[in-house]
Parts: sequence; structure tokens; C-alpha cells
Amino acid sequence: MATAGKVIKCKAAVAWEPNKPLVIEEIEVAPPQANEVRIKIVATGVCHSDLYHLLENMHEDGFPTVLGHEAAGIVESVGPGVTEFQPGDKVIPLFIAQCRECRFCRSPKTNQCEKAWAAMRSNAMSPLDSRFTCKGKKVLQFMGTSTFSEYTVVNTMAVAKIDPAAPLDKVCLLGCGICTGFGAAVNTAKVEPGSTCAVFGLGAVGLAAVMGCKSAGAKRIIAVDVNPDKFEKAKVFGATDFVNPKDHNKPISQVLAEMTNGGVDYSLECVGNVTVMRSALESCIQGWGVSVIVGWTNLDDFAARPIQLIAGRTWKGSLFGGFKGKDGVPAMVKAYLDKKVKLDEFITHNMTLDQINDAIELMKHAKWFNRSEQDCMLDLNCAASSPSCYVTLLHEKSGNQGNQGDEAVKNINGLINDTFQQFFGNVTIFVIRIKCQNLEWQQLSGHSSDCGGIRGD
Ligand SMILES: NC(=O)c1ccc[n+]([C@@H]2O[C@H](COP(=O)([O-])OP(=O)(O)OC[C@H]3O[C@@H](n4cnc5c(N)ncnc54)[C@H](O)[C@@H]3O)[C@@H](O)[C@H]2O)c1
Ligand SMILES: [Zn+2]
Ligand SMILES: [Zn+2]
Repeated sequence: MATAGKVIKCKAAVAWEPNKPLVIEEIEVAPPQANEVRIKIVATGVCHSDLYHLLENMHEDGFPTVLGHEAAGIVESVGPGVTEFQPGDKVIPLFIAQCRECRFCRSPKTNQCEKAWAAMRSNAMSPLDSRFTCKGKKVLQFMGTSTFSEYTVVNTMAVAKIDPAAPLDKVCLLGCGICTGFGAAVNTAKVEPGSTCAVFGLGAVGLAAVMGCKSAGAKRIIAVDVNPDKFEKAKVFGATDFVNPKDHNKPISQVLAEMTNGGVDYSLECVGNVTVMRSALESCIQGWGVSVIVGWTNLDDFAARPIQLIAGRTWKGSLFGGFKGKDGVPAMVKAYLDKKVKLDEFITHNMTLDQINDAIELMKHAKWFNRSEQDCMLDLNCAASSPSCYVTLLHEKSGNQGNQGDEAVKNINGLINDTFQQFFGNVTIFVIRIKCQNLEWQQLSGHSSDCGGIRGD
């Protein structure tokens, strides 16, 4: 390749500081060093973890950076001594690497990799070194992947080679959300044929969890979401029943217990809300019920009565669906090509890298009401983008914004009511309501999960 061994100048969306729009800049991407490959990114999803880093400001040393960790691309060149990859290989970068050598990689019990963690600066969410510079400054590589760039350099232990027949604009979703939800059901919960499952939260992760339960042979899959618009989509992935917690005056765990003669065999929390995590656990049947936490939050501790576990329930967590990246991602790509898992159905928007801030806004605003994290996809080849579709979306958005805001407040009030009734009976929640109503719509959507739980601050 003509560019091999040379610095590549290309476009990337740089996050110079927290809470500010990303800036499309020309960056320099250095050639790959030993054990590295340089990848031309073809398509990337936008995931909530990117947003958490940008907006929740928990990694103060993590800027400037290039976000993005759910992508697919083509190897442009390889570093000295690299034989595992060749230019032209189709690949998916992995935020959960697999060195295949460390004690974690050698254990079938986990998908974590000690070597990969050791190479990361956790306070910055990026590796110790970066191949990116912009305007003379080093720019960090978020999660070691940095896929909001036309080119990136990734350690070979964090790259999965995939089938050359794979359409990159679809399989990019396997870089995070879809493997996460699907694997949580199949690998972590180990859903059994004939079982009854409940999936809480029907974003991309939850819908993929529904698909995982179905693929594992569950006979009944109860989809739980506060947004009824999600239910039709959940059916596409195999949901058999729907429960909207807002339609009930009693704890959701009680509703599910009544529907299932004592509780579900498996529950999966795909919201990222500690109150829902507790409800999901309590929705499991005593004796053998398994509840898996998939949703992510770092803002609150969770709680449950010990008797829940003493009575025989198991509470587990799942990272990237328990998949070891190099093994699991190509297998999921094959499953997609063999039509055993769906991907196309998750995608609702195609946009260009230049529209990255709009994609982030869509994700923030739509968090509760329209769509899920991964289904906003940036096509870095630009060819497939559709400005008119995008304008329509924006138009719909602004037309409905006030209503959605009101609806959001209603939903949140409903949730807080439910939550308080569950824990404290009918207490007055006036103060929290007022706080929620005073929130700007933008703020509300950005933090809806937290507000929707019990906080409201
Ligand atoms: N564990 C991992 O490896 C991993 C990887 C990726 C994402 N995640 C996390 O998974 C979670 C889900 O991601 P997503 O992209 O699907 O999110 P999303 O925001 O698109 O979907 C969340 C869904 O939960 C619903 N919801 C909100 N409050 C609810 C409540 N009280 N009860 C029932 N449903 C409720 C919303 O209406 C929405 O449909 C996030 O927390 C994300 O950070 C975890
Ligand atoms: Zn992600
Ligand atoms: Zn390892």
C-alpha cells in the first residue's frame, strides 16, 4: 500500500474537552509499531459509553481524545513483525482485547484480559501511548479503538479478523451492543431451552438480549420497558409478552411473578439503573432464578435483601456479553452471514462523520423515546449517507420536542411513583417531581435513566 510506513493525514472527530461538541479535525495517524495494525474505519456505531465519557466527565485525564469503539474496517498496513493480519483484511476493533496468553485469556470463565488492562490508563480510558496527533498535540485513543476517525491504530490483541464476505456497515454493530446483549443471555445467563425470561430495557442491548434468549430456545420472553413504542420492535427479535411498568400500581417483580407462577427463570437488566437491577433480581423465581446486570452505571450503589440470594437466586454481571473478542466476534459475524442473528433491524440512521454531533444529539434526545444507542451509525465512506432522511428526522424531532419533554416528565413521575411505592408505600414525592419538572428537556434526556430511577436530582 502506498501509505504503508507513512503518516496518514485524515479526518477525525476530536473531543478536546468534556461536555463540548466534537470537532472534525485533520489528524495525523502514525504508522503502526510492533504488534499493531493501522485500520481504515469504514463504519462505526455510536454507543452510550462514548457519551458517558464525554458527558459524565469521570475520566478527567481522558482528553483530548477520539471516541468510538463499535466499528468495522479494513487493515491498511501492519507493524513490524505482525503476521496475524495482512493489508486488506476485514476486521472489527475490540474494546475487550484477547491476548490469548494471560491467565484470564486462558480461563474459560472470563473474557477479560490482564495484558490488555495493563496497557490501559484507566483514569484516561485509553492506552499508555497513542498514534494520533492533532495541531502538534498528542490525542488519546479512547478504549484503544478510537473509531470516530477515518484511520486508527490498534494493538493486534484488540483486533478480530472477520469473514471477507461481511458487510462492514452492518457487522460494525458487533463491536459492542449486539454482542453485549446477545452474549449476556447466551453466555452469561446461559438461558436454557423452554425457559421463561424477562428483559428489562429495550434499547439495542436489550433487544439483542431478547434475540439471545430466543436463540437459546426460551419459550417465553417478557419484554419490559417504560416506552411502549419499543414493544413492536422487541417482537421482531422474539419477545412474546410485553410489560410496561407504568401500567401497574404494584412492583414490577410482583407483576412478573403473577404472570409466571412465581417468577422468571432468567432476567436481564439492560437499562443501567440500580433500581431496575433490583427489580430484575426480585423478578426471578426463588430456587434457581438467574439475574444478569448488563446496563452500566457508575453513579449509584445497588442494594437487595440477602434473602433474595439465600433463597437460591443468582446475581451476575456481564461485560461484552461474556464474549472473548477474537473468538466471539468472528463467530457472531458468521452467525449473521448464516442468518442466525439479525443486525439490519437495529439500524435506523445512516450518517456521515461530519454529522457526528448530530448523531450524538439524536442519541441523547432519543434515549428514552425513539431509538437505541447503537442504531445510529456513521458511514465513514460517506456514500451511503442520506441527508434528506436526516433532515426529516430533525424535523420530526423539533416538531415533537415539547411533547416529548412533557411525556418524559410524565414517565419519570410515573417511575418515581412506582419506585417509591415499592420501597416506601404512598409517600409524597412532591419535591422530586418539582425537580424533575424543572429540568431542561436536554438535561432530562441526557440523564433520564438516573432520573427515572429514584434520584431526580
Ligand atoms: N455491560 C456491557 O458490556 C455494556 C456494553 C454496552 C452497553 N452497556 C449498557 O447497557 C445499557 C443499555 O444500553 P442501550 O444502548 O440499549 O440503552 P438505551 O438507552 O438505548 O435503552 C434503554 C432502554 O431502557 C428503557 N428504560 C428506561 N428506564 C426503564 C425502566 N425503569 N424500566 C424499564 N425500561 C426502562 C428505555 O425506555 C430504553 O428503551 C446502558 O446502560 C449501556 O451503558 C453495557
Ligand atoms: Zn459500547
Ligand atoms: Zn489476555
